[in-house]
Amino acid sequence: MSRVLQTFISELEQDRSLREPDRLRERSHALDRLEAYCLDGSLHEAHADAAAEAGLRHRIDILRAELEAIDGQLYQSIRLDIQCGAGAHRLLEWAHATAPGHAGTPADGESYDHLDGLVSGVLQIDEPELQLAGLSAEMVFYQPTPARHIFDMIARTALDERDVLIDLGSGLGQVPVLAAICTGARCIGIEWESAHVECAQRCARALNLDQVTFVQGDVRVADLSAGTVFYLYTPFEGAMLRDVLDLLRAEAARRAIRICTLGPCTAAIARERWLQAVGPWEMHRPAVFRSA
Ligand SMILES: C[S@@+](CC[C@H](N)C(=O)[O-])C[C@H]1O[C@@H](n2cnc3c(N)ncnc32)[C@H](O)[C@@H]1O
Repeated sequence: MSRVLQTFISELEQDRSLREPDRLRERSHALDRLEAYCLDGSLHEAHADAAAEAGLRHRIDILRAELEAIDGQLYQSIRLDIQCGAGAHRLLEWAHATAPGHAGTPADGESYDHLDGLVSGVLQIDEPELQLAGLSAEMVFYQPTPARHIFDMIARTALDERDVLIDLGSGLGQVPVLAAICTGARCIGIEWESAHVECAQRCARALNLDQVTFVQGDVRVADLSAGTVFYLYTPFEGAMLRDVLDLLRAEAARRAIRICTLGPCTAAIARERWLQAVGPWEMHRPAVFRSA
């Protein structure tokens, strides 16, 4: 292990291409491997004496700081473009380069990748400061949609300025925020946890996004009348999902709507006879349905 680790570190130290801003994916893999070496005892194995181990650890620390600083500069430059209203093409370029099925990108499932690192570094959504209120039975706890699926959803729904996207159970808000940056659509997030709503609002304000709003409340009693596209990353299940589907069906009686889903709720929604799937669907990728 000693030789493999030493060679790996030396290669990273000398690899100039890794310092190019667009090598985000490669930096992410390198940082993951360095972290794994630090955690799995390889450093200790590689060097019997403490001084040599400390030397190797020091080199790893310098490398990590350098690579993270390059990522930080990239995130900051995209953030500045968003604040000036010019962020869409920057984000969509990255999304395109890492579209599902692209080499090295996990196509489906709930895993996260370097695109989530980019979104997190760009949006800089705070951790909630307030105590969470807690969820009742059938509400699903917060878990963010992996970024590649958000961009896939944006592409598949072709949201534009005639649309109003409503994220039902919006958590920390990254779906409405990214959709607002990348499309002309008005975007609304409805979320039960007020601590999450506060973080989402702060993020939207800091990015100068005025076409995105967040509302605290239970989706079952929220105003859904503006929505043309509804997004559900399995926010609830059982009778609560049934109640919300009945509300959406009532909305669909007034105007055509589309519903985009991810996760286990997709199977339940696919059974609704008032909806038609737009193309084939599967649970671990965004699926799109439209009212018949
Ligand atoms: C799986 S997370 C999805 C978060 C976000 N939509 C995303 O994709 O990144 C589900 C969210 O729904 C919220 N939630 C669950 N039941 C709700 C309800 N009845 N009304 C409003 N929000 C709810 C939870 O607090 C949680 O933040």
